[in-house]
Amino acid sequence: MTTVIKNGTIVTADLTYRADVLIEGGKIAAIGENLSGDKELDATGCYIMPGGIDPHTHLEMPFMGTYSADDFESGTRAALAGGTTMVVDFALPSPGQGLLDALQMWDNKSGRAHCDYSYHMAITWWGEQVFNEMEEVVKRGITSFKHFMAYKGALMVNDDELFASFRRVGDLGGIALVHAENGDVVAELSARLLAEGNTGPEAHAYSRPPQVEGEATNRAIMVADMAGVPLYVVHTSCEDSHEAIRRARQQGKRVWGEPLIQHLTLDESEYFNPDWDHAARRVMSPPFRNKLHQDSLWAGLQSGSLSVVATDHCAFTTEQKRTGVGDFTKIPNGTGGLEDRMPMLWTHGVNTGRLTPNEFVAVTSTNIAKILNMYPKKGAILVGSDADLVVWDPEAEKTIGADTQQSAIDYNVFEGQKVKGLPRYTLTRGVVAVTEGKVDSREGHGEFVAREPRGTVNRALSQWKELSAPRPVERSGIPATGV
Ligand code: URP
Ligand code: ZN
Ligand code: ZN
Ligand code: ZN
Repeated sequence: MTTVIKNGTIVTADLTYRADVLIEGGKIAAIGENLSGDKELDATGCYIMPGGIDPHTHLEMPFMGTYSADDFESGTRAALAGGTTMVVDFALPSPGQGLLDALQMWDNKSGRAHCDYSYHMAITWWGEQVFNEMEEVVKRGITSFKHFMAYKGALMVNDDELFASFRRVGDLGGIALVHAENGDVVAELSARLLAEGNTGPEAHAYSRPPQVEGEATNRAIMVADMAGVPLYVVHTSCEDSHEAIRRARQQGKRVWGEPLIQHLTLDESEYFNPDWDHAARRVMSPPFRNKLHQDSLWAGLQSGSLSVVATDHCAFTTEQKRTGVGDFTKIPNGTGGLEDRMPMLWTHGVNTGRLTPNEFVAVTSTNIAKILNMYPKKGAILVGSDADLVVWDPEAEKTIGADTQQSAIDYNVFEGQKVKGLPRYTLTRGVVAVTEGKVDSREGHGEFVAREPRGTVNRALSQWKELSAPRPVERSGIPATGV
């Protein structure tokens, strides 16, 4: 059985041209003119793009006393509906739990996925067992390790642990990821706010000013440089963090920044909505920022100082959010966005002229595949690549609403937003999963994508210098005591 996509314009991260795409056995078999296949998909008026890759999701994750509400079933169904054909989720050991044990938990859950997936491994504590198991994790195709510099008393790792883990990741040829917020300062500010009677969701934003993110991002970059490991900063939300990333890249360090679609399009005024539920539903870390920070993120995507756009999809129902009534620190942190990332970025990025269609493909798919070392299997339209494709109709419109979404939660942070630019078809390894908004995908179709380590060339700039082994200086005399 072959499928051909006809009459469309192919848009990749670097090229735009008219051609048909022939698919066989889940892969792209040919690209050219006048191709024919058993089944035809009409792409008249549409762009044929690599399917989106969301590098940052939390599906059915135990967090803050509950589980995130979208699992691999509803989460990946939502992804496909919005043109995303692969997610990279975080396998999260609870502190003290082995990495391989956590991996088994994630394997038990991910069998329900509608689209392909991979994992990052979270390092939530440090010890000999973690050190040893990291090697096996890499052997199983998971080469990116996430560290939380926030969530003190829960997931946070201290600087000694961060440095030890970064060195280990570097030696294994992997990349380090960080949630960069100064967890000590956040804990201190939170306690003070609560003591002063600031208990509402807006206090969540007060407790995590841009400085806590800027400081942690700078620290992570310096620690990563000393450890000789490439660094990927998740959910870059503000200029303070972006500035550190920009500077590091200018210095030749392998550092990447990942803004979220939420931070690009929603601002801090959401937390001052008098409706408690409205504000609490938008509580996430880092919080939404003001317009100046948003402009910085857009500029970063344009100039290339920021590399990818993710969702950090970690959705909680209103009922789950309400565990934080009377104490903002108990509101589960996280928002959804998997289904809306591509249409929202197209609407606010491409339709406004901020991004070209090629840049859109780069930041939603190709750059991610390259950074995470799965290009050109993913993120490409090349003969031999997986036929994870989206036939994108730039004229199709809808209004985002919880009543029509795939996600399991009862609201949508983008509720009421009009988007223009939607999938006509989404294909996962050649199988049509979505047709003009109608989802017809198969639970369990998704496969795990193993990723190779990059080896020792995977180093930050400073590590290229000849580092001779440190040795003590030979001196002629022994100084007198007390000197
Ligand atoms: O608030 C957020 N971002 N929740 C998900 C977990 C994380 O920190 O990424
Ligand atoms: Zn985070
Ligand atoms: Zn509302
Ligand atoms: Zn996250």
